Amino acid sequence: MEVVEAHGAKIPIVGFGSMRLKEDAGREAILSAIRTGYRHIDTAAFYGNEKEVGDAIKASGVKRGDLFITTKVRDNNLKADDFARSLDNSLKLLDVPQVDLLLIHWPNAQVPHAESIGALNKAKREGLTKHIGVCNYTVELLKGAQAATKEPLVTNQIEVHPFLDQSKVIEASRGYGMAITAYCPIARGRVPGNPVLERVGKAHGKTASQVSLRWLTQQGIVVIPGSGKPERQKENFEVLDFSLTPAEMDEITALKSAHVRVVNPPQAPKWDV
Ligand SMILES: NC(=O)c1ccc[n+]([C@@H]2O[C@H](COP(=O)([O-])OP(=O)(O)OC[C@H]3O[C@@H](n4cnc5c(N)ncnc54)[C@H](OP(=O)(O)O)[C@@H]3O)[C@@H](O)[C@H]2O)c1
Repeated sequence: MEVVEAHGAKIPIVGFGSMRLKEDAGREAILSAIRTGYRHIDTAAFYGNEKEVGDAIKASGVKRGDLFITTKVRDNNLKADDFARSLDNSLKLLDVPQVDLLLIHWPNAQVPHAESIGALNKAKREGLTKHIGVCNYTVELLKGAQAATKEPLVTNQIEVHPFLDQSKVIEASRGYGMAITAYCPIARGRVPGNPVLERVGKAHGKTASQVSLRWLTQQGIVVIPGSGKPERQKENFEVLDFSLTPAEMDEITALKSAHVRVVNPPQAPKWDV
């Protein structure tokens, strides 16, 4: 698997998003993803499925060293003590002594960077995670986080797909040497049926979802599509065996005029426009 390198982290470019996959059916779906070939699994304390992820990893028989596991701490747990408790619980549920990547799930304006980023740094120093990073940080928030951190932040996990212009925050993140991890890389099911993506897909014998994932990976962006269905997991995994032409890349980039932001909860920061 191709990796994206950032500050020493080697992040498999196609990962699996496990949100919504819970209980027996979720455990089976995560196991199916690992059997399909995914080695990068994205979870979060908030998803309530770290136990299922841990169980699926054990059931798969895949060696821990061959997997890249990401988890996240919620925005309401960013004060030092809460942060440590949340991470301890995540590691217990996953049943691992260390994750590969630990992220702040959402920024929290009530908690200063020194405290939240400080807690993230401490987790790395204590060996509870190999690498650290953030999600949903804007250009301004990145500036504050970078000023507060002693350890490198290896990624900014943000919503990226063809229907949203994220160029400003992508440029700022890359300016700090951070990888971009795209969540909702198929715009939560809005990609299938788009005429441009369908047409480009047909030209390559691929689906619209595969085209969206290729458009991202061809820009060196890590993708973490999620699906509970084995056939879609396979579809979303098989995206590195074709290339889009520069004209196709440009045509897909122009779809940003749709301005679709799928994830915008109450705790969201003021987004870069
Ligand atoms: N850091 C954050 O704040 C944040 C926010 C949101 C998400 N995430 C992460 O990003 C991951 C992916 O995001 P997401 O799940 O919201 O969006 P997504 O991956 O863009 O889309 C997932 C949705 O599309 C469907 N789907 C998947 N593959 C498909 C395909 N090939 N054709 C048609 N439909 C397909 C899935 O349904 P089925 O299951 O029925 O296939 C599911 O409803 C999450 O699992 C999570 O790990 C992070």
